[in-house]
Amino acid sequence: MNTSSLSLSVSLETELYFHFRMPFWNIRENPKEQAHTFLFPQWPRRPKIVVISRGIFFEAAKSTDMEFELVKKFIMKKLKNELPKNLTYHSAEHIKDVYRSAKRLAKLEGVTGADLTLLLTAVLFHDSGFIKSQKEHERLSCEIAREYLPGYGYSEDQIERICGMINATKIPQTPHNRLEEIICDADLDYLGRDDFFRIGKGLYEELCMYGILNDVYEWNKLQVRFLEKHTYFTKTAKQLRKPKKDEYIKMVKDKLKEDKKK
Ligand SMILES: [Fe+2]
Repeated sequence: MNTSSLSLSVSLETELYFHFRMPFWNIRENPKEQAHTFLFPQWPRRPKIVVISRGIFFEAAKSTDMEFELVKKFIMKKLKNELPKNLTYHSAEHIKDVYRSAKRLAKLEGVTGADLTLLLTAVLFHDSGFIKSQKEHERLSCEIAREYLPGYGYSEDQIERICGMINATKIPQTPHNRLEEIICDADLDYLGRDDFFRIGKGLYEELCMYGILNDVYEWNKLQVRFLEKHTYFTKTAKQLRKPKKDEYIKMVKDKLKEDKKK
């Protein structure tokens, strides 16, 4: 594994208190353990902490390989704990669903190696912005990715590609390369799947909660407009999902006609 060293020297325990605002009782109790948790919460590897005669010295091996399994564990825990509980669509379940779809699409589209890792990382972060706000959540998701991914060995260039994928999922989707096409198709995979109505119900409830929609009639009108404008980008999604999606457009249109008669 390639590593680069990052060293931080801290003069005394008091400096931990005054400079880093680390609670003093923590330093007294177990400085090595507490300093790591407090100063490097997002680092996957524990920095080596050496106590020298009049202070503490931190030396950490910072990985330059992508630590995918560690970042997956970290972000899934963050999403489960910090996404607002009233999100009935953009929940941790949505991320797991898009993750499975992206993995399947990537396999069928022949994406492997580092590209697959970047794609799946983008999926894990793509709606994390909802932790902060629904508004401009893609930009906020990129902010979160930029904050944490360097600590897991992702380079600036890799993070830019990940943010490219996250931004491509903004509606209307605008993919510029194959990985961006795959994440876009995975994000809306359910539009052509058997669980379309179940997942759609969650989105309807979330939009009502935000005050964007008021009733099912408005929702069905929005669904038809959205489904007719939407297009899958990859050959695989076009083959696997488009036929069923077209059936759903017809079904929702019929429902709208029925409701109009009443
Ligand atoms: Fe999403």
